[in-house]
Amino acid sequence: MQLLKQRIREEGVVKKGNVLKVDSFLNHRIDTQLLDAIGEEFYRLFADAGVTKIVTIEASGIGVAVMAARYFGVPVVFAKKAKTAQLDDEFYSARIHSFTHNNDYTAIISRKYLSAEDTVLVIDDFLANGEATRGLLTILDDAGAKLAGVGIVIEKGFQGGGDKLRAEGIRVESLALIDSMDWETGEIVFRE
Ligand code: G4P
Repeated sequence: MQLLKQRIREEGVVKKGNVLKVDSFLNHRIDTQLLDAIGEEFYRLFADAGVTKIVTIEASGIGVAVMAARYFGVPVVFAKKAKTAQLDDEFYSARIHSFTHNNDYTAIISRKYLSAEDTVLVIDDFLANGEATRGLLTILDDAGAKLAGVGIVIEKGFQGGGDKLRAEGIRVESLALIDSMDWETGEIVFRE
């Protein structure tokens, strides 16, 4: 998606440790017009996939998921990062390791909001190692829900998570796929 790549080039800041800061339009201040265009693009890509629900994970995935859901006309369910008190059999849950933050957390979704009747599009803002996505896929499996695919705003291709999912036959569509980035020069190379 050219508009998105242009914004990343103009406003993205490459930090040490392979982190791309996009706080000016995605992760802190949200550019609603850009997010609307992103939502429309996800709809273009997955319009024929029979999506009944969009699933994401708090916090930054929610804005993107909601914008896309308006085009699909379906609800969004976001996985919550659990407090232990919430962990009971009312919830599907998955343990997720974050390499970026070097911590583990449990993602939960209420059994009320996901079922075997659902065809799910998983949406998130970033895909790096793919752990968050895998956690959500475990939850979908537990619920017996069908997976339409995975829609990602920015994939850091060099961390390999997306290509592993693709190799397993999962449809992963990333609107900006970064092959390399250099915090010293600020250079960002996109996969075409
Ligand atoms: P993975 O799920 O693909 O394995 O990625 P990882 O655990 O490494 O990333 C975890 C968190 O860090 C996610 O947010 C993800 O959106 C974010 N993240 C990963 N790489 C980058 C990056 O280069 N830039 C930015 N801005 N974020 C990145 P989270 O912890 O779930 O937090 P939230 O922001 O959604 O609340």
